[in-house]
Amino acid sequence: MKIITGTIEELDALVAQEFVKVVNKKPNAVLGLATGTTPIGVYANLSKMCKEHKVFFTGVKTYNLDEYKGIDPENDQSYRYFMNKYLFSGIDVKIENTHVLSGKIASDAEAEKYDEEIANAGGIDIQILGIGSNGHIAFNEPGTKFDSKTHIVALTESTIKDNSRLFKSIDEVPTHAITMGLATIMKAKKIVLVAYGKNKALAIKKLIEDEPSESLPCSILKKHPDCTIYVDEDAYSLMK
Ligand code: PGA
Repeated sequence: MKIITGTIEELDALVAQEFVKVVNKKPNAVLGLATGTTPIGVYANLSKMCKEHKVFFTGVKTYNLDEYKGIDPENDQSYRYFMNKYLFSGIDVKIENTHVLSGKIASDAEAEKYDEEIANAGGIDIQILGIGSNGHIAFNEPGTKFDSKTHIVALTESTIKDNSRLFKSIDEVPTHAITMGLATIMKAKKIVLVAYGKNKALAIKKLIEDEPSESLPCSILKKHPDCTIYVDEDAYSLMK
């Protein structure tokens, strides 16, 4: 696992460059995408570069990590809505080639079909990840099996609290979600994890220093052959 530190602006640009490199080399690349506050700057860079004709997304397919359970795609809290707003509306991707898990999936078996779809598309060439303050990646909370496929999860109190900043009240935060599993994520050929802010510092310290363990879901990334973590000064502050 490689570690790159810098300012948020520098890291947003570097991570966007990694995506551009992959797409310019393979115009029909499969991109693994994430929601949350963290990737917004990366997506802004990608939109800008697309407008400047430095990259074209017309041939790519995208698969998002997760979605809240029970939320409609039109709901402004849905991850489909987020992706349309922060990325898909700003680039030339074909909307029918963008995939966000449906909040209506009712069983793990149904959810697992997403893994087959990704495999049939050729597998993810580059996957962006954020990280939760509890070390989750996507909605794989502490204790998630390393061999998990896409599945339905109950969100932990810590995640509900972290995400409540984006809702009118904590009671409105969905309690369940559908998420790519850890084994699904590990199949991506290249992984970039981005962590900004003091709230992520402890998770980053544990990720760097501890042995892989299911109690820290992100630690599985240490077993990946091509994973780089992009960490700003605040998220790296406990390493100094
Ligand atoms: P954030 O979420 O980007 O909003 O901090 C990251 C995550 O919980 O994975």
